[in-house]
Amino acid sequence: METHGHLILVGFMGTGKSTVGRLLAQRMHRPFLDVDDVIISLDGRPIPRIFSEDGEDRFRELERRALVQSLSGADSVIACGGGAVLRPDNRHLLQAHGRVFCLTASLDTILTRIGQDPNRPLLAGANPRSRVAALLEERQNAYQAFPDQIATDLQSPAQIVDLIIKSLARE
Ligand code: S3P
Repeated sequence: METHGHLILVGFMGTGKSTVGRLLAQRMHRPFLDVDDVIISLDGRPIPRIFSEDGEDRFRELERRALVQSLSGADSVIACGGGAVLRPDNRHLLQAHGRVFCLTASLDTILTRIGQDPNRPLLAGANPRSRVAALLEERQNAYQAFPDQIATDLQSPAQIVDLIIKSLARE
């Protein structure tokens, strides 16, 4: 199957973007790019350090640059960080450069999957459950802006890849 443009995965932390993305890239014989990794290679520091030393605004600027760079390459599968879709200009950029799938998961699934991950600075703090709940609520409209929504709670990464490939074949 030939699909032109990038295949882009967005969604909250813990919805499986990187795992599904890697698998999808293998199945589609495309390169895989994780925008968080592009940020780390652009800046040279791990993400928690960028947040703690320079703050979230600086991180979002780097994220924008990493998105532009990732989208300018050959057709790939691109997994975006959970907050990459907060800026409307990022959402438009993604939609203009490929097919975007938004992965979703319930609060409980997200908490089980991400646990106490020290690499996710936005969740550091006393009460990750209320933090995740607040962020999901705050970001709901940004995620729902994408027509292709895939609930991941009850499906394996391989099943999600099958769903995406079927949906591309129907185009
Ligand atoms: C973030 C999600 C993270 C990473 C950063 C901020 C967010 O990516 O970009 O910690 O704002 O949701 P993942 O969704 O890959 O964990």
